[in-house]
Amino acid sequence: MPSIAVYPGSFDPITNGHIDLLERALKMFDKVIIAVAVNVGKEPVFSAQERFEMIKESLADHPLRDRVTVDLLNGLLVNYVQSIPASTIVRGLRAVSDFEYEFQMALMNRKLNPEIETAFIMTGMRWIYISSRIIKEVVRSGGDVSGLVPDGVAQKLLERLSEP
Ligand code: PNS
Repeated sequence: MPSIAVYPGSFDPITNGHIDLLERALKMFDKVIIAVAVNVGKEPVFSAQERFEMIKESLADHPLRDRVTVDLLNGLLVNYVQSIPASTIVRGLRAVSDFEYEFQMALMNRKLNPEIETAFIMTGMRWIYISSRIIKEVVRSGGDVSGLVPDGVAQKLLERLSEP
């Protein structure tokens, strides 16, 4: 049986930090399913379908693309993971500031389904300061994010966030 992990998130939009995390997860699991949350707490800049498409495009030429699936996540994450079936959720950790939120989510997911474990992977040092939120903030203020997100994503951010 191949080992399968689910890597969930808002991915609004995907960054090079997410791709770094994915590559690290692929060292540990045979397959990784990127699950793009349809309903996210904060108002996303991109629709779920747009976030999904940007991930597909960003990974189209990736050497490990055959071991990655991109999917939309509706409803509870643990139900989705069980439906695969998979038993591991993968999340990235950058700094201590991520910990409280991640800890709360991991324990809630464990309460909802004790069979499913959350594995935390440290983001590469190059990407430790990057988040989708800060990337959007920089683009909104006219800053350059090339090299921090896939090229197609940088273009879409410019188009979207410079709209009147
Ligand atoms: O990238 P994000 O916004 O930190 O990802 C959060 C996400 C999508 C992983 C989380 O909100 C989630 O799992 N949503 C699906 C609904 C769910 O199961 N919520 C309870 C999680 S404790």
